[in-house]
Amino acid sequence: MEEVRWLKAMLSSELEVRPPTSDKKEEKYLAGNCAKIYRDGNLIGYAEMRKVGSHIEISTVLVDKDFRSQGVGRELIEKAVKQIGNQKILCCTKNPAMAKVLQNLSFKSIGWPGFWTATILTFNTFARLLSMLIRLEFKRIWRQGKGIHKYERYELN
Ligand SMILES: CC(C)(COP(=O)(O)OP(=O)(O)OC[C@H]1O[C@@H](n2cnc3c(N)ncnc32)[C@H](O)[C@@H]1OP(=O)(O)O)[C@@H](O)C(=O)NCCC(=O)NCCS
Repeated sequence: MEEVRWLKAMLSSELEVRPPTSDKKEEKYLAGNCAKIYRDGNLIGYAEMRKVGSHIEISTVLVDKDFRSQGVGRELIEKAVKQIGNQKILCCTKNPAMAKVLQNLSFKSIGWPGFWTATILTFNTFARLLSMLIRLEFKRIWRQGKGIHKYERYELN
């Protein structure tokens, strides 16, 4: 329950990621395909992984505010990459710190991710927009929408 509380608080305060859902759904996310980093038994880093076309996408990357710029983001992505194994990995971001983490780990900025990945990414974008509209998350929609042209796709092949 402590982890659900932490995750929901992080999702509420960070407008660049998906909105928080119910406790039950967040519990499922935490038990599912994700990477987690702990300090002194407390969850301080979290990232989700899911199949998107011919890639595995790493998304919803969150590091506790008290632990940022200490290498935790890097540790988290390294852990996610290890868990994913030998598959093409994709991460879309406009966050400069996130972009730096990815560049440092040899992810390359790519234009076109391929037909299937692009199709599923577009579908997921509309699904996320709908979920934000249903939750009346207008601030989040504005935040993500206004810088949409700044999103870059990073790939690790
Ligand atoms: C993005 C995030 C996960 C990074 O986590 P972190 O623990 O701070 O990452 P690290 O400490 O491993 O590395 C951060 C790197 O970015 C650099 N950095 C920090 N702020 C920066 C900025 N504004 N511009 C450019 N680089 C920046 C740091 O110097 C560091 O690079 P270095 O190792 O070469 O010095 C964290 O800031 C976060 O949770 N942000 C909010 C949620 C979010 O927007 N997630 C991304 C969604 S895709």
